[in-house]
Amino acid sequence: MTAGGADEVAYNDYETFAVAYARSNEASPFNALYERPAIIALAGDVRGLRVLDAGCGAGVHAAELVAGGASVTGMDLSAGLIEIARERLGPDVALHVGDLSKPLPFGKGVFDLVLSSLVMHYIADWGPTLREFHRVLAPGGRLVFSTHHPLLDLRVSGSDDYLGTYQYTDEWERTGRTMTMRFWHRPLRAMLAAVREAGFRVEEIAEPDPAPEMAAADPRAYAHLSRNAQFLFFSLARG
Ligand SMILES: C[S@@+](CC[C@H](N)C(=O)[O-])C[C@H]1O[C@@H](n2cnc3c(N)ncnc32)[C@H](O)[C@@H]1O
Repeated sequence: MTAGGADEVAYNDYETFAVAYARSNEASPFNALYERPAIIALAGDVRGLRVLDAGCGAGVHAAELVAGGASVTGMDLSAGLIEIARERLGPDVALHVGDLSKPLPFGKGVFDLVLSSLVMHYIADWGPTLREFHRVLAPGGRLVFSTHHPLLDLRVSGSDDYLGTYQYTDEWERTGRTMTMRFWHRPLRAMLAAVREAGFRVEEIAEPDPAPEMAAADPRAYAHLSRNAQFLFFSLARG
């Protein structure tokens, strides 16, 4: 767990542990009973909307959005996770392997909602990504995303630098293997500056509680999430 400089590699090896990651993400209370219900609630009624799931991973959010009546497109850097998403979602959901820090392969104004769960903390410079989200959204469109809470970064990295923007590493154990993950910490003021500079208006910033059923399903995780900020959620309107 080290705080590092901007020269460290930008991506994480989701390829090698796609299957293990997909399984743990689906079942983990942090995802199933905290992150997913919170971001799906922020997305609201998606019936009839054209939605981009940006960094869709194994497609669990995309499946919920399809069930809610949206027409969904998914994109992720990991071909392995996109393959798992394809199995989950079938042929009717358009899925792309691609890098969200590069120009997106979509036209202007073709989505009503961009949803991006737990991806922005992998992105070094939020400017180009947020500007692309703005470009592909139609007038009146919205962006909802979740990201590491900056206080989580401080806890995990051991850094005492809240106001800086920097990369740090963490070790994840999955099916007996240790993966080194690299994340970007940035303070709330940097997040707000980036979303405003990209042309978004803040509708809501949320620090949700875990779902009540987590108290019985995983009392330890529930106690932790009832005291500690883990993820931060944004609901933004395209300006
Ligand atoms: C923590 S997982 C979240 C997956 C999914 N959104 C979810 O919440 O279940 C982070 C995802 O971001 C993807 N990712 C990281 N950097 C990316 C980038 N630059 N472009 C596209 N996807 C990226 C990873 O491949 C991985 O699927």
